[in-house]
Amino acid sequence: MIYLDNAATSWPKPEGVYQAVDDCLRHRGGNPGRGGHRLSLQAGRIILETRELLAQLFNITDSARIIFTGNVTEALNLALKGFLRAGDHLILTSMEHNAVVRPAYRLQDTGVEQTIIPCSREGRLDLATLAKNLRANTRLICVNHASNVTGTIQPIEAIGELAASKGIPLLVDCAQTAGILPIDVVKNKISLLAFTGHKGLFGPQGTGGLYIGKEIDLQPLKEGGTGSKSEVFVQPEELPDRFESGTPNTPGIAGLGAGIKFVLQEGLERIRKHEQALTRQIIEGLRRLEGVTRYGPNDLEEQTAVVSLNLEGWEAGELSYVLDQVFDIAVRSGLHCAPLAHATIDTLETGTLRISPGYFNTPAEIEVLLEALYSLVREKTSGRR
Ligand code: ALA
Repeated sequence: MIYLDNAATSWPKPEGVYQAVDDCLRHRGGNPGRGGHRLSLQAGRIILETRELLAQLFNITDSARIIFTGNVTEALNLALKGFLRAGDHLILTSMEHNAVVRPAYRLQDTGVEQTIIPCSREGRLDLATLAKNLRANTRLICVNHASNVTGTIQPIEAIGELAASKGIPLLVDCAQTAGILPIDVVKNKISLLAFTGHKGLFGPQGTGGLYIGKEIDLQPLKEGGTGSKSEVFVQPEELPDRFESGTPNTPGIAGLGAGIKFVLQEGLERIRKHEQALTRQIIEGLRRLEGVTRYGPNDLEEQTAVVSLNLEGWEAGELSYVLDQVFDIAVRSGLHCAPLAHATIDTLETGTLRISPGYFNTPAEIEVLLEALYSLVREKTSGRR
């Protein structure tokens, strides 16, 4: 199997991730923060260690301000619904994923106003348009660091500057960029950072989280047992407990910690370079094919390792099915849970075929993919004669 769906979930994982999950389940299986015995303490250490690794990766001074959630969607829901109130104005972009769009639309029912800034057909956000749409009651700017549909990277440093100059908090959805692009909450002036564990951080599914800047007053969306202050009937104020009720996904978080260690050892630059080289190979290879429409910025510096396309004579879903069934190549087709982004690039009706290589893919695998596409086009063309 040639796996080219890393924008959905990275696979395979570094060996250390499998070992960490196995070791946690076999040898450190206690409930973290819920007992004084050794297995509970060891589980607690796993959680703390992963929090510290995330703090190192994102330049967060106080790791207690990182909350673990089940995925980035839960983190984004917490950030949006825990922060915005009736009368507030939210700004988002037309490249957002449904993980932002759906909670944002739900918030409109509670009196939160919203403006969706239209991006270009390449998915680019224009800063001047963003600035023009700020209002006196704008309380949050929410931006997708890179699109899962086109890979388009938004200039979060410049957006952070603009937001900070107006005293407006910035929420960044880094689902597609954590572990791939540098993210520094201080330098990029990020107040809320929502991440997922199972993509560029190489963790298992069911892991993710939210960084909450100290300037942010956030309401929890759930209450319950935290292992702390059990004698009181109300949720503790202290972080991270205020937002972490219920037994966490300790084995997943153990794997996530190992994934982040791998990222830190390899280095972001090396990871990015490798993914860029594979993306370049795909883009150049596609140039040899007739009838390809590609989406996104067409500039390796401005996109992640995502190549979205349509091929004349093929429906995207049919193409991904044939690639899987006949050639043993996994890619994703459809709307990728981001209809607003598809409306922006004008593919709402068709969707796209998305090829997303990862750090463990090789140039030889990309060659096999390209050969498969060439042969499918040849077959179709000769059939037409
Ligand atoms: N949002 C993920 C994707 O882009 C699952 O495939």
